Amino acid sequence: MAPAAQEVMVQEERPAARCSGAALIVGATGYIGRFVAEACLDSGRETFILVRAGNASPARAAAVDALCQKGAVVIEGSVGGKEGRKAVEAALRAHGVEVVISVMGGASILDQLDLIEAIRAAGTVKRFLPSEYGHDVDRARPVGAGLAFYEEKRRVRRAVEASGVPYTFLCCNSIAGWPHFDNTHPSELPPPLDRFQIYGDGTVRAYFVAGSDIGKFTIKAAYDGRCTNKIVHFRPACNLMSTNEMASLWESKIGRTLPRSTLTEEDLIAMATENTIPESIVASLTHDIFINGCQTNFCIDECRDVEITSLYPDIPFRTVDECFDDYVHGLNHLAGEAKDDEEKNAPAVGRLAVPPTCA
Ligand SMILES: NC(=O)c1ccc[n+]([C@@H]2O[C@H](COP(=O)([O-])OP(=O)(O)OC[C@H]3O[C@@H](n4cnc5c(N)ncnc54)[C@H](OP(=O)(O)O)[C@@H]3O)[C@@H](O)[C@H]2O)c1
Repeated sequence: MAPAAQEVMVQEERPAARCSGAALIVGATGYIGRFVAEACLDSGRETFILVRAGNASPARAAAVDALCQKGAVVIEGSVGGKEGRKAVEAALRAHGVEVVISVMGGASILDQLDLIEAIRAAGTVKRFLPSEYGHDVDRARPVGAGLAFYEEKRRVRRAVEASGVPYTFLCCNSIAGWPHFDNTHPSELPPPLDRFQIYGDGTVRAYFVAGSDIGKFTIKAAYDGRCTNKIVHFRPACNLMSTNEMASLWESKIGRTLPRSTLTEEDLIAMATENTIPESIVASLTHDIFINGCQTNFCIDECRDVEITSLYPDIPFRTVDECFDDYVHGLNHLAGEAKDDEEKNAPAVGRLAVPPTCA
């Protein structure tokens, strides 16, 4: 059957709107930023990273080193304030940067207003991706601290639209991992080993996307003409799961069942309105995802939205199943290391006395 006209419009790339030049990543040392910067380097594009000067933590220094070893070029600087804005503008122009991807953290969302000014003034940039990487902030209706956070992201969207710089707003939905309600970087922790906290009745589903796929498809969208001035949604059908389904999957991986307790809608709203930042923001977004169903309660509007899997139907997404296997390997590795340490530290006689087991 011939595809519908609308479908053809979405599937065909518009070469005129494509860009191919250098990218600047702002926030490359962050949780999501590292995935984006690595993917940009993996794509073979000239990649600049804006890194703030100052006493870097060892983890941040290691992140910068790793990216430089892969070919990233550091531009030292900071977004925010007149001086920072002028410096970024000069750097964009000097390097002929065509794509700017911001992955700035939650506390710095409004600093992007200066970044937009710098981009507009530089005149080299053909695409800007502000720091989004979550839900559609114009459609979602979180309560409490999440709403204040989204109001900042909405303000940035309006400034981007007014700037006239071509943009892409990315809605990656949830990062693959257990959706811990109290952690801003949930996938850095393995799923629970003692007890699951299930949100509401545990049946509301969300889309989970591996960090490496967030990076890979961010770069694809940034250089794809079909994503110009669009909201791009990540909805891989293979990773649409509820917390009940994720809990069962994790139990099958670890070979045992765990007790489940319920965090009710009221519990999450109480945390969201406590105004403890950033915990209240995470609780608020957890409520919006797993009670309100904010990732699935609207349809794609082909005038303003694009769904990423429709653009790259042949490129698979990592599944939650595969990500959970990674956590199991990580936990086994840690357990192995702990056992080695124990054996090394045990007195020789004790070591010999341990009978072999076939457990
Ligand atoms: N979908 C999800 O599950 C999910 C989860 C978490 C976050 N997010 C979203 O992803 C985005 C990034 O959040 P994140 O948690 O990855 O951030 P993060 O870990 O806090 O990292 C923020 C990055 O921005 C840099 N930065 C901050 N302010 C800056 C400034 N004024 N000038 C230059 N660089 C600056 C930081 O540099 P330094 O190294 O100097 O601090 C760091 O590299 C946010 O929009 C957030 O809402 C989505």
